[in-house]
Amino acid sequence: MRGKDLVTIFFLGLVVLAMLACGGERPVDIENITSQPKQYVGSDTCKMCHLEHYDSWKMTLHSRMLQNAEENQDAIIVPIDEKQIREDLANMGDELKVPPDQIYIPNIDEIKFTIGSQWTQRFLVEKNGDFFIAPLQYNAENHRWVTYHEEDWDQRSWLLKCGGCHATGVDLEKKTFIEPGVGCEACHGQGSWHAALPKTAVFEKRQTIINPAKLTMGVAVQICASCHSKGQPQNEKEASWAVGYKPGRSLETYYRTPYFGDGNIKQVYADHFDKGHHQQYNDWQVSQHYREGVTCTSCHYVHQLGLPATGSQTVGAGSQQCFECHQILNKTTAHAIHSFANCIGCHMPRIVKSTESGKNHSHTMVVLLPKDTIDNAELPNSCMSCHKHKDADLKELQEKAFPGSLDDW
Ligand code: HEC
Ligand code: HEC
Ligand code: HEC
Ligand code: HEC
Ligand code: HEC
Ligand code: HEC
Ligand code: HEC
Ligand code: HEC
Repeated sequence: MRGKDLVTIFFLGLVVLAMLACGGERPVDIENITSQPKQYVGSDTCKMCHLEHYDSWKMTLHSRMLQNAEENQDAIIVPIDEKQIREDLANMGDELKVPPDQIYIPNIDEIKFTIGSQWTQRFLVEKNGDFFIAPLQYNAENHRWVTYHEEDWDQRSWLLKCGGCHATGVDLEKKTFIEPGVGCEACHGQGSWHAALPKTAVFEKRQTIINPAKLTMGVAVQICASCHSKGQPQNEKEASWAVGYKPGRSLETYYRTPYFGDGNIKQVYADHFDKGHHQQYNDWQVSQHYREGVTCTSCHYVHQLGLPATGSQTVGAGSQQCFECHQILNKTTAHAIHSFANCIGCHMPRIVKSTESGKNHSHTMVVLLPKDTIDNAELPNSCMSCHKHKDADLKELQEKAFPGSLDDW
């Protein structure tokens, strides 16, 4: 035998050994895994293999919407000081439907979960095996306690009214949920098949989980819409959220999200600008961005390591990100006067009510002009957020920026 043959045999031997070693590994029974019903497994399971996504998600408010206060009392952002709370409530005077000394105030050990932490915080308590929202609310921006459904708080099931948008894997029949907050599976769908498959089964892995980036734009954006919109559930009329909806499906089957102007949506200003919160999708649907395929994830990230922190998880800081796409702008009217530093100030005014004041941004992208307020005093405008000295004259402001625009007025 020649040396070359010896080498060949040696390598063939190695290959055979390698094949034996692989054969020794238990074959993956994919069929068995995918014949089980698909279930929720919770974000901690995803963490095992997707640590970076998990880390980044942990830093977003999605992970913190609902927090277990029994495990972590630090989730409560304000002291539960009954005396202080009753004093604040008493200041509400005639607005109260129950006398201030009779309003139920949970003690700290009764609080199971906190709801929210940015603008307001509310508290979940348990009663007769169901969850209810304690009848008070803390407004972080002005450090003030106010009431929340003090007269009927224990008649309003949190799971029905709020659960599906603030927790993951809500089961209305069993009155349970899998995970507090907006977990991985709220956007990626139930992950039991995907998680059970071994890392090496890459293609099966990909086929058993929803990746929004691989869906068509309309279906992908509805994942966000399932929570960031006002709508009417189709299956469970008593509920206030998209009962039965799963990422990747068509939302409208489960939850009708009305466009402005079709007469179904409450809480809109006279000419169809919203003032209720979590209506970003309803807003966006009437914007030019909707027609151009500029979606929520064009402007917002949901988990991305390495980005500098920005308000509201925007891809770029403030108005800088508008320049990514809008490099050439008409230098007319309002654009001609201003230095362009603040697109958001004019095009996304904070007219959306979240707590006591308008705090959230309109997503229609339409500028509200002084003229709009002159026509309808109920309507705020974009300009007054900066031009707000007490003697600011709306007509003058309008005329200066848009000469002649009030001529026929
Ligand atoms: C045992 C490890 C493991 C676990 C647990 C796991 N994944 Fe994965 N995941 C993978 C692998 C491997 C891939 C394929 C990577 C690739 O495409 O190169 C993947 C891909 C993905 C993708 C992209 C799919 C695509 O089509 O591009 C998403 C989204 C995802 N996982 C989400 C999750 C979520 C959500 C959970 C928890 C429910 C989870 N994963 C749990 C290993 C895991
Ligand atoms: C609020 C919705 C949302 C949540 C919550 C969420 N994701 Fe995602 N995820 C997305 C979207 C949207 C994409 C597509 C990314 C894109 O379009 O840029 C994505 C993409 C991915 C991918 C594919 C690779 C990539 O980065 O594009 C993986 C893996 C993934 N997510 C894992 C996770 C894990 C693990 C969690 C929980 C720790 C999680 N996601 C939570 C919306 C979400
Ligand atoms: C299961 C419901 C749910 C889904 C699905 C969901 N969100 Fe949210 N989102 C929330 C809730 C609730 C909050 C408020 C969290 C808080 O304030 O504690 C929130 C907050 C946000 C914020 C504001 C964060 C901040 O810092 O103020 C952005 C931006 C956002 N979501 C974008 C998205 C995008 C984009 C998608 C789709 C890829 C999405 N969300 C999907 C429920 C959801
Ligand atoms: C259709 C989905 C949906 C329903 C139903 C819903 N919310 Fe929300 N909620 C959101 C989203 C999305 C946000 C964040 C974006 C925003 O405020 O515009 C939010 C924000 C909040 C915040 C502010 C959080 C913070 O960090 O300041 C509180 C508090 C809150 N919701 C309480 C409730 C309560 C209580 C209910 C039930 C009576 C409820 N929500 C019903 C989707 C929903
Ligand atoms: C053209 C870019 C753009 C698009 C598209 C967009 N947003 Fe926003 N969004 C912003 C900006 C800018 C802010 C305010 C950022 C800040 O706090 O300075 C914001 C704020 C938010 C907030 C925080 C609450 C508020 O209103 O201030 C939420 C929640 C949110 N967006 C969700 C969404 C969802 C859901 C979609 C898709 C239906 C969406 N956004 C589409 C740019 C966009
Ligand atoms: C991912 C790209 C992208 C980003 C980011 C983006 N836009 Fe746009 N925007 C577009 C496109 C495309 C159009 C439609 C074509 C056009 O009018 O330029 C549009 C249209 C608009 C319009 C409507 C114009 C009309 O004729 O009605 C306004 C206003 C606008 N954008 C404002 C903004 C603001 C403010 C921001 C930053 C918060 C922003 N855009 C961020 C791509 C983007
Ligand atoms: C002082 C208020 C103001 C500021 C600041 C402002 N805009 Fe505008 N913008 C307007 C008005 C008013 C219009 C006319 C159309 C309307 O009423 O929506 C307009 C029109 C537009 C249009 C459609 C017409 C065009 O020029 O293509 C786009 C796109 C736009 N703005 C983007 C931006 C971007 C991006 C920024 C920041 C770089 C910005 N705007 C800053 C008030 C403003
Ligand atoms: C983000 C803050 C901001 C917003 C929003 C804003 N402005 Fe201004 N405005 C300014 C500043 C600052 C100046 C001074 C010029 C500059 O530095 O751009 C100014 C200047 C002006 C001027 C010329 C100076 C004067 O008073 O004679 C007019 C007119 C004007 N704005 C009208 C408007 C109108 C109309 C709107 C709404 C469509 C508006 N502005 C929205 C900040 C703002």
